[in-house]
Amino acid sequence: MSIRPILTAPDPRLKAVSQPVAGIDAELRTLIADMIETMYDADGIGLAAIQVGAAKRLLVLDIDQKDGGRNPRVFINPVITAASEETAVMEEGCLSVPEIWDEVERPVRITLEYMDGEGAQQTLEADGLLATCLQHEMDHLDGVLFLDHLSKLKRSMALKKLAKAKKLKAAG
Ligand code: NI
Repeated sequence: MSIRPILTAPDPRLKAVSQPVAGIDAELRTLIADMIETMYDADGIGLAAIQVGAAKRLLVLDIDQKDGGRNPRVFINPVITAASEETAVMEEGCLSVPEIWDEVERPVRITLEYMDGEGAQQTLEADGLLATCLQHEMDHLDGVLFLDHLSKLKRSMALKKLAKAKKLKAAG
C-alpha cells in the first residue's frame, strides 16, 4: 500500500467524469487500499478515485473514525435511486480544496445502489453525515466539487484563498 498524491483545485482532472468500474482485479484492489491509506493519512472522511487521478466510479469513506476506530467502506459504481425532498445544510470541506469549508444544502436521506469491495451488489439507505458524505464523494465522480454548489462569489473567493495558500506553501 502507498499514499498517493491528492489533486487539488483547480486541477482540470478533477472536472473529469469518471468511468464505471468493470470488475474487481488486483489493480483495483491496490487502488482501493491506497485510497484508504491516503484518506487516513490526510485526515479525511472520504475520498473519490479521481482525487488521486484515477477516473473510476469508486470512492472510499469512513465516518466512524472520530470514535478512535476505523471502519473503511468501499463504494463501486454507486447510483442514487431515491433522495428525500427534505434537505439539510451541512458544512463541507474537501481534501482537494484544502482549508476551505462552507455550507452546502443536500437531501437529508438517500437510497444508494453500489458494489462493495468484495464485488457484492448492495442497497443502502443513508441519512445524516453518511448521506452528505456519500453525495459529496459521488459528485466527484461527475467532476463536481462542493464549491460548485456555492454562489459564484463564494466560489471565486474560495479559489482565490486556495491559490494564495498554495503560493505560500510553495514559498516554503
Ligand atoms: Ni471532496
